[in-house]
Amino acid sequence: MNDTLNTIANRYSCRGFSSQPVSKTDLEILVRAGVQAPSSRGNAPWYLAVVTNRELIDQIRDSAFEVITRRDKLGYQSIMDRGGDLFYNAQALIVVATKPTHDLTPADFDAGLLTGNICLAAHSIGLGTCICGFATHAFHVFKSPDGERFAKQLKFPYGYQMTVAILVGHPAKTKDQHPTDTSSIRFFE
Ligand SMILES: Cc1cc2nc3c(=O)[nH]c(=O)nc-3n(C[C@H](O)[C@H](O)[C@H](O)COP(=O)(O)O)c2cc1C
Repeated sequence: MNDTLNTIANRYSCRGFSSQPVSKTDLEILVRAGVQAPSSRGNAPWYLAVVTNRELIDQIRDSAFEVITRRDKLGYQSIMDRGGDLFYNAQALIVVATKPTHDLTPADFDAGLLTGNICLAAHSIGLGTCICGFATHAFHVFKSPDGERFAKQLKFPYGYQMTVAILVGHPAKTKDQHPTDTSSIRFFE
């Protein structure tokens, strides 16, 4: 296996970060790797807000948790099963917003490729990440009382909407990647 394949094979969702801050240099490496992802027609329909402000990270976490508590019973249960923590003490939050492209594949697809790049790049330099779909609740304009404020505060360009967030930090807890299941693959020769 080469370095790239090793990184892919060993990346995992980190659910426990230390309080050590993530350096700006490292964050720059991650977002640069993110925007190096391919996108449909090269549209790059994304906007990335890199948040290290503790107060703002906590506000986004609390707001998402509040919406989940009110409106997402299953989500609430899965958070409780993992110890009741939504952001696992992440020291940085990369919020990915996208604009609709009216392309064959939705902008979310491009954002997924960008997100994958960020997670792999982070793992390759010893940082942990966890993609956090739950964070999107905080930005919901109808469900979350703070949704509009967060989008404004993070300066989302007009027409862009919250797509996903990536938690970043130095791992305090590690785990294995999910078991590799190749049963969904077929070869036609
Ligand atoms: C779109 C997406 C949203 C996710 N949202 C969350 C989340 O909100 N909280 C969380 O702890 N993990 C979240 N995950 C992580 C998955 O649970 C994890 O990738 C999966 O269980 C496989 O584990 P692994 O990444 O360690 O291999 C998300 C993953 C993806 C791709």
